[in-house]
Amino acid sequence: MALAIGVIAFAKNYLLYIPYVRNRIIFTMQFQLLFILLFVLSSCICIAGAASITKTIVVDQNWSGNFTTIQAAVNSIPDGNQQWIQIFVKRGVYREKVNIPMSKSFIVLQGEGPTKTSIEWDDNGDTMNCATFIVNANDFIARDIAFVNSFKQPSGGPYVVAEAALVGGDRNSFYRCSFFGYQDTLCDYHGRHFYEECWIEGAIDFIFGFAQSMYLNCVLNSVGQGWLIANAKVNESFASGFVFKYCTIRASTKTYLGRPWNNWSTVVFYNTFMPSNIEPQGWDTWGTSPNPYQTTFAEENCLGPGSDKSKRVSWLKYPSKEQLSNFIQIKFIGPDNWLSQRP
Ligand SMILES: *[C@@H]1O[C@H](CO)[C@@H](O)[C@H](O)[C@H]1NC(C)=O
Ligand SMILES: *[C@@H]1O[C@H](CO)[C@@H](O)[C@H](O)[C@H]1NC(C)=O
Ligand SMILES: *[C@@H]1O[C@H](CO)[C@@H](O)[C@H](O)[C@H]1NC(C)=O
Ligand SMILES: *[C@@H]1O[C@H](CO)[C@@H](O)[C@H](O)[C@H]1NC(C)=O
Repeated sequence: MALAIGVIAFAKNYLLYIPYVRNRIIFTMQFQLLFILLFVLSSCICIAGAASITKTIVVDQNWSGNFTTIQAAVNSIPDGNQQWIQIFVKRGVYREKVNIPMSKSFIVLQGEGPTKTSIEWDDNGDTMNCATFIVNANDFIARDIAFVNSFKQPSGGPYVVAEAALVGGDRNSFYRCSFFGYQDTLCDYHGRHFYEECWIEGAIDFIFGFAQSMYLNCVLNSVGQGWLIANAKVNESFASGFVFKYCTIRASTKTYLGRPWNNWSTVVFYNTFMPSNIEPQGWDTWGTSPNPYQTTFAEENCLGPGSDKSKRVSWLKYPSKEQLSNFIQIKFIGPDNWLSQRP
């Protein structure tokens, strides 16, 4: 089945490459067919015995649900919760900050689609607290919802941290979600995470953090000069890093793939489309230190005019077949196969 998903994903990516100047609505529409296929496939997983949702709470701004704000729904879930509870968020723009604390696990946040259900706020400056959406709970799922930080950056800078989301629990997964911001859009902070068919938009370090994450079939949309990725590791032996597999990069202006937030920064692009606006050297240092030679930045099987590696930095890594396989298989985010045990 993994093979089937891979084949579909790959075919879909090719569809996206041809006219890669598209708006995000068309992007969303293109995915409809894929959703249906994935739905059929995920039904098979259910039959195989995945956990199921025990209860659904409805959030609706028009007073026809249980709550009118998402945070009120989150607060209604008892601390120490052990069963999957779905918070179904009806269409609308929810102007609130939402925080799912460590004590409230097993939540499924379900929207009606990233162009229909969104959570928006515009806080800035404080990396640990400014995100519109913060999850520090383990075992969290979000589907079909957008996270937006609408802070208006000063034109010409200096730009400031303004996160759409901070993801800090273990076993957190996101499906068909959008993240909009400019600087530091997605703080992929800590834990093992999976993102599939997500749209992540920004300009400066717009995916950053210490997490151990796989991004499958996502679009990284760069809307200004900067760096897409700024990864860091807790320490040298810590098994973290960001893997981008079957993704598509879009860039409105020249930009770098990434820069090392610390000495062991680890980022792998696999089978990813790179447009011509990727700087030929690909990666940047972060001033003179951290030392980029200890980092692991790799690009394998990538496509598109920006994927030419001939002018890349000398410290780009060329993993062996076995090393590459350790990055691109789902076991990169943990050998315990936690993803397949989700509702
Ligand atoms: C949500 O509303 C439905 C319909 O009124 C009700 O049956 C259910 O008990 C409510 N759930 C909660 C958690 O309030
Ligand atoms: C809430 O009401 C507005 C105005 O009547 C409507 O446009 C919108 O679709 C409603 N939302 C839902 C989720 O029914
Ligand atoms: C690396 O960090 C992890 C997590 O904090 C810790 O368990 C481990 O002991 C650290 N290893 C070294 C070599 O510092
Ligand atoms: C990173 O590497 C440089 C050069 O080897 C070293 O001077 C620096 O202390 C290292 N930083 C950390 C946090 O280990």
